[in-house]
Amino acid sequence: MEFIDLSRQQKRIAEAIRLRTEAVFSHGHYIMGPEVKELESRLAEYAGSRHCLSCSSGSDALLMLLMAWEVGPGDAVFVPAFTFFATAEMPALLGATPIFVDIDPVTFNMDPACLARAVQAVKLQDVSLHPLPPAALEAAPLRARCVIPVDLFGQAAAYEQILPLAESEGLLVLEDGAQAFGGTWMGKRVCGLGCHGAATSFFPAKPLGCYGDGGAIFTDDDALAAELASVRVHGKGTDKYDNRRIGINGRLDTMQAAILLPKLDIFAEELERREQVAAWYARGLSDACGVTVPRLAGGRTSVFAQYTIRVPQGRSDLASALKEQGIPTNIYYPKPLHVQGAFAEHGLAADAFPVAAQSCEEVLSLPFHPYMERDEVERVCAVISDHCS
Ligand SMILES: Cc1ncc(COP(=O)(O)O)c(C=O)c1O
Repeated sequence: MEFIDLSRQQKRIAEAIRLRTEAVFSHGHYIMGPEVKELESRLAEYAGSRHCLSCSSGSDALLMLLMAWEVGPGDAVFVPAFTFFATAEMPALLGATPIFVDIDPVTFNMDPACLARAVQAVKLQDVSLHPLPPAALEAAPLRARCVIPVDLFGQAAAYEQILPLAESEGLLVLEDGAQAFGGTWMGKRVCGLGCHGAATSFFPAKPLGCYGDGGAIFTDDDALAAELASVRVHGKGTDKYDNRRIGINGRLDTMQAAILLPKLDIFAEELERREQVAAWYARGLSDACGVTVPRLAGGRTSVFAQYTIRVPQGRSDLASALKEQGIPTNIYYPKPLHVQGAFAEHGLAADAFPVAAQSCEEVLSLPFHPYMERDEVERVCAVISDHCS
C-alpha cells in the first residue's frame, strides 16, 4: 500500500495531461505561458479571491507576501509551534522574529487564546505572559506585525477568533493554506477567507499538486497584487530589466500550470472522495481503544491533506505493526518548531508549548488519497483495532 498513491490519479488524467503539455511544446512559452494566466483566473474564481498569482512553491508564496509587506528586522510574526518548518522559516529568512504560539489539542491549529497572550507579551515585553525569544526583550521592542495561521492537515484555522483579534491589534493576517486548498470555512473557500493574503502549495503530495514545485498567492487587495507581480520577477518595474525593488524569481513554470489545469477539472470530485475515505476511516476506527480520529471544528470542511490520528500510548509499536502488514505511516511532525536547531537561539524550553510538544509524541498519519478503496481503508483499520483493543 502507498501512503499517497499518485499513480492512480495519473492514469485517470494521462490523456488530458498529454494534450495540455503537448500544447505547451507547440507554443513554446515555457515561462509565463497562456496556461499560467488560465490557471490563475480559474484558481481566483475557485477560491473566491480577486487575485491569484501562481508561484514557484508554497514557501515562496509565504516569502513573497512577507516581502511585499516589507516584513523584516524588528517585526514579530506569530506562527504555530506545530506546523511545517517553512511557516516560521520564511519570516526568519527576512530577519523578522517568529513568535511561536501553542495549538488547540483537537484541531492541531493555532490556539487563539494563546495568540492573544503572545501579542500582549510582545507588546509589553512581558515573558510572564508567554514564552518569548531574547530578541523580543531587547531595548528596541519588536513590533507585532503579522500572524500566519496554518490550516493544518486540511482544515481551516480558528479565523472566527483570529480575524477580529488581528484587526483590533493591527496585525496582517497571512493564511498558510498549503495543506487545505479546497477546504471551506463558513461557506467560503480556503485562500478566499478575507485574510490580507493567503498562500498555498502545489507540492505533488498536496490535495491539488503538480509534478514538481509550485504554489499560489491570493489576495483581494489590488495594490498588493501589483506589488507581488513585481516581487515575483526580480522586483520588475516597467519591464523586467527595470528593477524597482528587491524581488526573487518566483514564477510557476508553464508546464506545471498545464498539469494543474486537468487536475483542477477533477478536483471537486476528488474532494468528495476524500470525505468518503475519511468517513470510512472514522467508522473503522470507532472501536480502536485510545485512538482519536480527526475532528472538525464547526462550519468547516476538510480536504484531509493528512489523515492524522492521535495515539497517546504505544505509537511506535502501532506504526511497526502497520509496517509489518505493508502499511506505511508518517509522523507530521516529530518536533515542535521552537526546538528545531535553527531556532536554538530562541532558547525556549522543550515544554514551552505543551500541546504542540505532546502532539509530536502522539500523532500518526495514515495512508490517505482520494483513490483509496473501502477494503484498503478497512485493512488499515483492522490492524489498528486489533492492536488497540
Ligand atoms: C503548512 C505548510 N506551509 C508551507 C509549506 C511549503 O510549501 P512548499 O513545499 O510548496 O514550499 C508546506 C509544505 O509542505 C506546508 O505544509
